[in-house]
Amino acid sequence: MWTKESLDALVREKLSDYLFVVVSNREPYIHTFSGKKINVEIPPSGLTVALDPVMQACGGTWVAHGSGNADKRVVDKDNKVSVPPANPRYALKRVWLSKEEEIGYYYGFANSALWPLCHIAYTRPVFVESDWNTYKKVNEIFAQSVIDEIGDRKAFVFIQDYHLALLSRLIKERNPNIITAQFWHIPWPNPEAFRRCPWQEEILSGLLGNDLLGFHIRHHCNNFLETVERAIEARVDRERYQVTFKGKRTAAWPFPISVDFEAISREAASKEVAAEMRMLKARLGLGREMIGAGLDRLDYTKGIPDRLRAMDRFLEKYPRYRKRVVFIQAGVPSRIRIPQYKRLNEEIDELVEQINWKYGVGEWKPVIYLREHLPPTTLMALRRLADFFVVSSLHDGMNLVAKEYVASRFDEKGVLILSPFTGAARELTDALLINPYATDHFAEAIRAALEMPREEQQRRMRKMREVVRENNIYKWAADIITELVKFGSGE
Ligand code: F6P
Repeated sequence: MWTKESLDALVREKLSDYLFVVVSNREPYIHTFSGKKINVEIPPSGLTVALDPVMQACGGTWVAHGSGNADKRVVDKDNKVSVPPANPRYALKRVWLSKEEEIGYYYGFANSALWPLCHIAYTRPVFVESDWNTYKKVNEIFAQSVIDEIGDRKAFVFIQDYHLALLSRLIKERNPNIITAQFWHIPWPNPEAFRRCPWQEEILSGLLGNDLLGFHIRHHCNNFLETVERAIEARVDRERYQVTFKGKRTAAWPFPISVDFEAISREAASKEVAAEMRMLKARLGLGREMIGAGLDRLDYTKGIPDRLRAMDRFLEKYPRYRKRVVFIQAGVPSRIRIPQYKRLNEEIDELVEQINWKYGVGEWKPVIYLREHLPPTTLMALRRLADFFVVSSLHDGMNLVAKEYVASRFDEKGVLILSPFTGAARELTDALLINPYATDHFAEAIRAALEMPREEQQRRMRKMREVVRENNIYKWAADIITELVKFGSGE
């Protein structure tokens, strides 16, 4: 079983001569002004939640976009700040982008082109040449920041996600001795879908600058290899899951990401969370109702309207549950400058209003919608209160929210309703699997969850907890680091 301590020992043994650098668009800690005070926010990002404990164990530097309005105020002359603020373990180095760069690179090419291209959620990708040019420029900015940080030291650079597809090649052009790995946190679609991207060759060439490329599941590796085979002249070795391109070898392997199981389990059992559960119930005016919950970044890939439609159908079909079940949807606003995200927000507002009008009685409403950034203790309390918990993504690389729910239920109670279109469904086979597009079948799963005997809940939850306990975030990091050091030793 991998733990923070054993990962720390692995890093000491294998990486002691190297500087460990993580690079991502999103930063793990965001400093913002609240009047004259400076607050630290933790963003709603599976990526940062997963990697922060790894960095706390490994030490080193995390390079990311400084997106908070107080970020510049707290850094030193090298644009660095030590984090976590309460107990510093590593350096966060911030990269500054202008508004134009953020629009073209983040809102534009990354989230209006690559995101919908890679998620089959029927949202059309938008390809704009100037966005692509800004994306290239911003990848150059990140490359320079990484190169400056490393200087002439030996280094492993661990790049995150689709915002930085060109980064490894740019780094290697400047210093070929740096070892790079990249983890693609979202799905990789089939070659037919990916070829819609007018710059697919450049993206593949950029990614094949890496020594190691990680995906959540083998299916995404297969899609990637097929895309390479069809799009560029490269040698693909299906046995070893490797590509040779321009004389360089890249391994494309699955590494299912996870969470810090023990820390979440421990925190869920704390007195603070128990007190927060009582306060939250009082604040939301909850009595003896059974509780369903969903916690998501407000993204059209998460299937939030679909789960609200299932709730509607459930209450229509089973009137005996009216006034007996409440569904709490917590949603953190995200990428709201993109039109599809604005429309999603409107759609959710309308559905919530409609369901509450249809089934509400007096003050009582079946859906409580919290469209805000909730603190970690409140999120934990919500997971603990949820008799059933819904993850209904239309498409999702992994979905760590599902694993967080399982890790929080140390009491072995509660039912996870999970979409098979998430990477997590490959591991959490004891969840109730639903097709989010099939509303009636989804509504039936809600009934089945509410009526599931305690023993069955316990049996399923226990098995899922075993899976997440063993395949935790430290194992994910250790597996990647173990492979990465082989490149350093020339194996
Ligand atoms: O996991 C996919 C991802 O896009 C991460 O890269 C990102 O941090 C997270 O979702 C949240 O999105 P954003 O950083 O755009 O708020």
